[in-house]
Amino acid sequence: MSLVVDRLAAKPMHRSAMVRCRKFSISVVALLALVIIKIFIDVNYPPLTLSDPPSVSPEPERSPITMLEPLQDDEKSTLAALHSLAQHLRKLVPTAGAYWNIEQLQLLDFKRPWAWVCSKSTPQIQAPEPYTGLLLSFLTQDQCRNHRMIINQPDKCPLNKTFLLLAIKSSPQNFAQRQAIRDTWGTERSYGGRYVRLVFLLGTVPVLDLSPLLEYENSRSHDLLQWDFEDTFFNLTLKDQLFLGWARTYCSRAAYILKGDDDVFVRTPNIVRILSLLGSNKHHSLYMGHVVKLARPYRDPKSKYYIPTSFYMGFYPPYAGGGGYVFSGSLTPWLYLVSHFVFPFPIDDVYTGMCFLVLGVKPVGHPGFKTFNMPNKEKLSDCSDRNLLLVHQKSPQEILKMWGAESKAPPSQRC
Ligand SMILES: *[C@@H]1O[C@H](CO)[C@@H](O)[C@H](O)[C@H]1NC(C)=O
Ligand SMILES: *[C@@H]1O[C@H](CO)[C@@H](O)[C@H](O)[C@H]1NC(C)=O
Repeated sequence: MSLVVDRLAAKPMHRSAMVRCRKFSISVVALLALVIIKIFIDVNYPPLTLSDPPSVSPEPERSPITMLEPLQDDEKSTLAALHSLAQHLRKLVPTAGAYWNIEQLQLLDFKRPWAWVCSKSTPQIQAPEPYTGLLLSFLTQDQCRNHRMIINQPDKCPLNKTFLLLAIKSSPQNFAQRQAIRDTWGTERSYGGRYVRLVFLLGTVPVLDLSPLLEYENSRSHDLLQWDFEDTFFNLTLKDQLFLGWARTYCSRAAYILKGDDDVFVRTPNIVRILSLLGSNKHHSLYMGHVVKLARPYRDPKSKYYIPTSFYMGFYPPYAGGGGYVFSGSLTPWLYLVSHFVFPFPIDDVYTGMCFLVLGVKPVGHPGFKTFNMPNKEKLSDCSDRNLLLVHQKSPQEILKMWGAESKAPPSQRC
């Protein structure tokens, strides 16, 4: 919070004392408003915590990399590519009578519209188990993907200059998280000629109009992307898909994209260094993070990740934990394309894993990504884990502290 306030207060510092005084009182009022809103949101929208991490998080593994042809622009070859990918997917879908599995197979018959057409009809589901309100809401909305953009950054990736695009999933009310990232590992800068750019991906908060605050924030930082949909856990897949559409249009030449949550700490310089050392094969088909293999849906209705058996049957595909993972920018148009015939799934990192599976791109584990089990703080700040690239569930204060400690260290002792 104090970060936002500092920025608000920093601006009106000039000319006469009277003006200064008036502006100061405006700042105080703005500050109070922000605090009240923050409290209101915190009470009404408790933060999502990763109380129950996925059941399986085996050791990271290294797998061979497949190479995809660049996606051609002409319609004929795109359709041919689509068709062969669809046939590939057909073999991968677990055949079972669950809702998702049935819908997925129907989608592959090309007898129904792509998964981006809005329809308000509730699907007929045989639900022997309790469906949470959220899951029901997902089911009624799952076809809808053409949400309007409220805030855009069309000039985020000038020419061919973006090496790494940081695409951070944030919620509108997380002002302090975003500011901590901007001030630390997310700073837009060049690392030896390799440019890092930053965008935050936002939906909306229905009960409160945060738009004046977000507009103000964006006028200073130029890094918000906002779409007109409710920012909830089960809408994260939607956020992913809308982002892919955006990246394909506005940042298609980014070499790599790091997709992550707004509560991760990232050693950006180390990630840039590792990525810049990759060979050209990996450069074009990388999907790297903390890989989860052979995971199964949670069947406990109390879990945040609860998926009823009537909804999905089978294992999950191998996927990189959604707290933070990196992939090749050149895969963006491919991912966007396949996302239209991979039936929406409420858990976003699992859904992303499905899309990569269709493309035949296997996730590569890297021990530096800690999205499920985090090492303790002391270890981190004294930098003993030199391989660490990304760690999950850090508060803005912790992020500032960790970054401060690391950047103050003499170069020889940096992690
Ligand atoms: C960007 O890269 C593409 C392909 O590598 C190239 O054709 C184009 O000329 C480049 N543009 C600039 C401005 O460097
Ligand atoms: C996703 O967003 C839409 C549009 O705002 C909303 O109607 C729907 O309830 C949301 N879905 C979930 C699962 O929260």
